Amino acid sequence: MQQVKAVVARAKGAPVEIATINVPDPGPGEAVVKVLTCGVCHTDLHYREGGINDDFPFLLGHEASGIVESVGPDVTGVAPGDFVILNWRAVCGQCRACKRGDLQYCFATHNATQKMTLEDGTELSPALGIGAFAEKTLVAAGQCTKVDPEARPAAVGLLGCGVMAGIGAAINTGGVTRGRSIAVIGCGGVGVAAIAGAALAGASPIIAVDIDAKKLEQARAIGATHTIDSSTTDPVEEIKRICAETYDGADGADVVVEAVGRPETWKQAFYARDLAGTLVLVGVPTPDMVVPDIPLIDVFGRGGALKSSWYGDCLPTRDFPLLVDLYRQGRLDLDAFVTEEIGLGDIEAAFERMHHGDVLRSVVVL
Ligand code: APR
Ligand code: ZN
Ligand code: ZN
Repeated sequence: MQQVKAVVARAKGAPVEIATINVPDPGPGEAVVKVLTCGVCHTDLHYREGGINDDFPFLLGHEASGIVESVGPDVTGVAPGDFVILNWRAVCGQCRACKRGDLQYCFATHNATQKMTLEDGTELSPALGIGAFAEKTLVAAGQCTKVDPEARPAAVGLLGCGVMAGIGAAINTGGVTRGRSIAVIGCGGVGVAAIAGAALAGASPIIAVDIDAKKLEQARAIGATHTIDSSTTDPVEEIKRICAETYDGADGADVVVEAVGRPETWKQAFYARDLAGTLVLVGVPTPDMVVPDIPLIDVFGRGGALKSSWYGDCLPTRDFPLLVDLYRQGRLDLDAFVTEEIGLGDIEAAFERMHHGDVLRSVVVL
């Protein structure tokens, strides 16, 4: 067991605090990771606000890179000294989804069995089973994916959550390729990552839609070929017009990624698709939202696929090393997502900036 500094959310809505926590030595199938970087994600704020569950105190942070310090018995995939990106979906390999080959739909994902605790022995709930706003954290070894140690930790660590969700929504779920068009509705961190993924895949045109002009500028810098301010322009008509300019007869985009998580933008995405096109919902709706009023004949008539994308439908061992290599080759600009590097004591301020939409990512560097 060892003691380290960490950021803890003690009670619903209360500001986070730096505390000393106890990190157990790794047991079977576990690893202790010395954290190098951890991005600040909306989900961390959600935990702090009590929006996910009431299992306070939380150890926040889940978008991280680090160095494996020690591993427990029976760990073969990673070893001390490995540079790793952490993931929150270590698949079980045993459930129906895993056996069927749909590993991204495994809902029996696992985390470390032992608990990290506060100095008084109170058990901590690590955000998404990670808890990486900490000098060190205990995770399941399957949550660690070894990648090129020469890569900049603050940039590639972002593949651990939001950036992977966006890139994967475009490539893994949407299946965009060269010669296909894509529109992305909502250009926050996730939407802009979908644009980066579309650019990487060679899609064209890449149409960014948002109600905030500064988000559209960011989207263009990362690879959007067209932008639409949907607070002033009907995005459905405009997406159809742009796609028809490139592909004669197109009635919309081959893939539309919805990265807001609202019924009205989902409806725009539905109608902005070309016939037989794919809609990918990556924005997370709230439980009270319902599918918008769309005549069933339109679902029938337009055909295609209505999908959602979980964590970009990623398989960490397949996707992380590949995307890190593409970053190292200069083909995927992950640096563009790092708006600022901050310390463990700056997380409340980072929540505030995130809330105002001022940053793509604030990244804690330890
Ligand atoms: N039309 C178009 N864009 C919109 C609209 C709208 N009606 N409403 C909001 N937006 C834009 C915002 O201006 C912002 O740029 O959607 C973007 C949302 O971005 P963020 O709040 O930064 O969220 P992000 O981290 O990108 O996540 C997007 O995916 O993972 C989920 O929970 C997350 O639901 C959220 C979504
Ligand atoms: Zn996240
Ligand atoms: Zn499984």
